[in-house]
Amino acid sequence: MIGTPLTPNATRALLLGSGELGKELTIALQRYGVEVIAVDRYANAPAQQVAHRSHVIDMTDAVAVKQLIALERPHFIIPEIEAIATAALAEIEAEGLCTIVPNARAIQLTMNREGIRALAAEELGIATSAYAFAESFEELQAAVDGGIGYPCFIKPTMSSSGKGQSMVKSAEQLRPAWDTAKASGRVDTGKVIVEAKIEFDFEITLLTVRALNAQGEIETHFCEPIGHRQEQGDYRESWQPQAMTAAALANAQAIALKICAALGGLGLFGVELFVQGDTVWFSEVSPRPHDTGMVTMVTQRQTEFDLHARAILGLPVNPALQNIGASAVILGGVDAEGVVYAGLAQALAVPDSDIRLFGKPVAYSHRRMGVALATGTSIEAARSKAVQAAQLIVIKTA
Ligand SMILES: Nc1ncnc2c1ncn2[C@@H]1O[C@H](COP(=O)(O)OP(=O)(O)O)[C@@H](O)[C@H]1O
Ligand SMILES: [Mg+2]
Repeated sequence: MIGTPLTPNATRALLLGSGELGKELTIALQRYGVEVIAVDRYANAPAQQVAHRSHVIDMTDAVAVKQLIALERPHFIIPEIEAIATAALAEIEAEGLCTIVPNARAIQLTMNREGIRALAAEELGIATSAYAFAESFEELQAAVDGGIGYPCFIKPTMSSSGKGQSMVKSAEQLRPAWDTAKASGRVDTGKVIVEAKIEFDFEITLLTVRALNAQGEIETHFCEPIGHRQEQGDYRESWQPQAMTAAALANAQAIALKICAALGGLGLFGVELFVQGDTVWFSEVSPRPHDTGMVTMVTQRQTEFDLHARAILGLPVNPALQNIGASAVILGGVDAEGVVYAGLAQALAVPDSDIRLFGKPVAYSHRRMGVALATGTSIEAARSKAVQAAQLIVIKTA
């Protein structure tokens, strides 16, 4: 049952994190009549511009998070980002008054690379890159010399979007990579992960949905694999479907099924995998819609946001692909407040294209400010249209 928004019987969802993915999720939830409250650390974040209400708080502050939840009494708490006071979420879940999506333990395990590696590689025996954790430069050096070797990736244990991450090709690059990881982790856990580089043919996001079926049982559904291209640890282009062998697809789905079942709960997960021939390695997983999955806004009848909203609310899902499509990100290019966007008409004149501008109040050179989407008769055609449309948007200081 769903209530009426803005009345005492409303079904309320509180988003912790209000970026572009949260904005689309807000719209998807509102279409089913959910009242949405969008929270972020700054005002006028993308989802706050469309939500019923918004709040600005420090989401890493457990007291502030608990106070806000006591005030709003949401039925669902949907973390959109990783930097939040997860201990507070565990307490709230234990009180049994609302659902943390997908559940507090999944949020806690996936916010830290150590938690999810331990679960995937050690507990579940899923193939990953060779890895080690280090709390000092000496430990890092020893792990690399002791078998991880070069090239390898050094990453803060708590970071996202490639922040603080470096690829190290030789011994003299190790110290600078250590310094970078230590300086730019989202939260300084004092630890870094070092991973051997996997020489993959391509990488994918396998959007995996845990939703209720007609019998009220949890069933797992897979979207068609999404291929993507990363630069400096951040996504630049994605496309769907990524062609892969039947064996690789079966391996990918088996890994996704296992890891998502271990995380549990209802919702959509973005499972990141590396593929070489028929071999698949697990990289990481988001217990929520994935940035590379924005392509589903033109490829699927039910986008990743619709699927997440439906799964959370216990509604039926259909992850079927409708079109071949691609996405290309639009970066800020400038550091400025209140920028203006030129070229929207030209971009939208690219056949079969669409544009989303997120409306972020501040642009940074490498901040994602929008995304271009396109469909086509082939991946190549869709990618080329999406890239062309993205390039036609020019961001200027006002
Ligand atoms: N061990 C690895 N081998 C090969 N490529 C990697 C490895 N780790 C990271 N990468 C590359 O860097 C990207 C970002 O790394 P990821 O661990 O997903 O960081 P984030 O959490 O910031 O997204 C990956 O999508 C991949 O392209
Ligand atoms: Mg990633």
